Amino acid sequence: MNALLKFATCGSVDDGKSTLIGHMLYDAKLLFTDQEKALMRDSRGSDGRIDYSLLLDGLMAEREQKITIDVAYRYFTTRRRSFIVADAPGHEEYTRNMAVAASFADLAVILVDVTHGVVQQTRRHLRICSMMGIKHFVFAVNKMDLVNYDQKRFDKIRWEIADLTAEYFTRSIEIIPVSATEGDNVTERSTHMPWYAGEPLLGYLEGIDVRQADDADGFLMPVQRVCRPNRSFRGFQGQIERGSVGVGDELTVLPSGESARVERIIDAGWEAEDAGAGRAVTLTLDREIDVSRGCVLVRGQRPKVTRLFAAQLLWMDDSPLVAGKSYMMKLGTKLIPATVMRISYKIDVNTGARLPSADLRRNELAVCQIAASEKLALDPFERSRGLGSLILIDRVTNMTSGCGVVLHPLRRSDNLFWQSTDITREFRANQKGQTPLTVWLTGLSGSGKSTIANALEKRLASMGRHTMLLDGDNLRHGLNGNLGFAERDRIENIRRIAEVAKLMNDAGLIVLVAAISPYRQDRERAREIIGPDSFLEVYVNASLAECERRDVKGLYRKARSGEIPNFTGVSSPYEPPLSPAIELDSVNSSVEDCVERILSALSND
Ligand code: ADX
Repeated sequence: MNALLKFATCGSVDDGKSTLIGHMLYDAKLLFTDQEKALMRDSRGSDGRIDYSLLLDGLMAEREQKITIDVAYRYFTTRRRSFIVADAPGHEEYTRNMAVAASFADLAVILVDVTHGVVQQTRRHLRICSMMGIKHFVFAVNKMDLVNYDQKRFDKIRWEIADLTAEYFTRSIEIIPVSATEGDNVTERSTHMPWYAGEPLLGYLEGIDVRQADDADGFLMPVQRVCRPNRSFRGFQGQIERGSVGVGDELTVLPSGESARVERIIDAGWEAEDAGAGRAVTLTLDREIDVSRGCVLVRGQRPKVTRLFAAQLLWMDDSPLVAGKSYMMKLGTKLIPATVMRISYKIDVNTGARLPSADLRRNELAVCQIAASEKLALDPFERSRGLGSLILIDRVTNMTSGCGVVLHPLRRSDNLFWQSTDITREFRANQKGQTPLTVWLTGLSGSGKSTIANALEKRLASMGRHTMLLDGDNLRHGLNGNLGFAERDRIENIRRIAEVAKLMNDAGLIVLVAAISPYRQDRERAREIIGPDSFLEVYVNASLAECERRDVKGLYRKARSGEIPNFTGVSSPYEPPLSPAIELDSVNSSVEDCVERILSALSND
């Protein structure tokens, strides 16, 4: 019997996908009797024929709305093989479900309606499936009965498919003419199409070999859990992704690069001498080495260890992906913060064209550069599914915002080192006799940030402190001169200000930042960059009405008249801090009082 085949089905709503798979199950006598009875009862249409699509309706909603809204998984077995089929919906808005179904599958069955030929949906399905690593495709050209089983019509579509697939790196493509409702070439060879010499769909699926040549090489297992029931036992649990492992094998742990030998293998509760791909095992090693969740144990060809890499992402969140924003990234068994540094280009899902773009919206695809917060082991998706696919999780909403595949590590990261210097931050701080830190003033334009920061700096200077004031407006004349006020530019603005503040803290200075910094998440990131112990968030609170009444620079008036787009408070959001270290009421307190409040917080420090 051949190994389990996991396949996905893709097709538009009316292509007859559910009917096709339903028919396959029915003809192959794979239904349980009660299911069959229910089908007989439920599904006789007005013409008394069985609606096979009901066999695949795992979900109520699909029955009610006559569409599939989520991925449904079916298991079935024939004499020759076991199958799991992931049924992905055909709607454009459900691209995400398609990607989920495809990410699990080794092969995709793509339905093409012979009366329509290759359509945009077909292109989209092929693109998403190949992005998710599928190398084997079957195009089921359906509804042949509607064209009188005409070979010419089929041949025309064969050419269209050949054109379509030319740009992809596929291992196998099969094109089969079928009629899902009539059962032609589904499980039995059709008598209506003697000109077709190939196998029916089920036979083809039973026979195909989807194993990768290098599946058996070496050994690779991402560590899912470190298991420590008592002092004497320390086991590393995970699922073997590639190759096999035997007692006595020398393994390397990544990213650290340390090695040790396998002492014991526990497979499904039993002591084993060896174990192969797909098994979930616990391994113990002969030496104490540093292994934690997210590390990878390998023998033979090693994955890359890097912090920077290029990836292809599919965006699934309603709010667009913004370069520079920090997400949680799950790659293999590792969960760490990561930032999409740059969107290199967007890919048109229909044509494959590369489009320049600063953001990525729901259902769109792009090639991006990602920086993880620390080095980790990864592999191009082509080579390893487990270490080559990732998801990005929004740090605030906890939603899965995007999924993607690793393309290649970026060499830049291998060539960058951190140079240690002998004169340290502590030395520089001691030399100045002060504790460096950053006072970060946030608030609406016109709330009084600059005025307070200026008065505060004068006081500090008079006390002999060494300071530097970084004012948002002023930095925008130089360092940040190339940035505007769209969300992505503000993110970058704040990142740069935070990095500069950190450098100046390292130089021993007390830094005062006065910048609107409207996004909570960016201020959190600034806190991470500067270091939480050196970061004092001060909310300069003045109501929008008051700032607008003052309108010192005349900008609110211009913003209201539409002359300035994205103006904070008017046409762009301001997110006040939830728990600032200090909140100043700059409407009812004097500048001196505000300065005193900050000074007393500093002296407590
Ligand atoms: S931030 O939002 O990126 O933190 P920053 O503090 O650097 O802004 O700059 C804000 C200053 O730029 C404002 O005080 C105002 O003088 C000016 N400005 C010009 N256009 C805008 C705008 N669309 N929104 C806010 N401020 C603007």
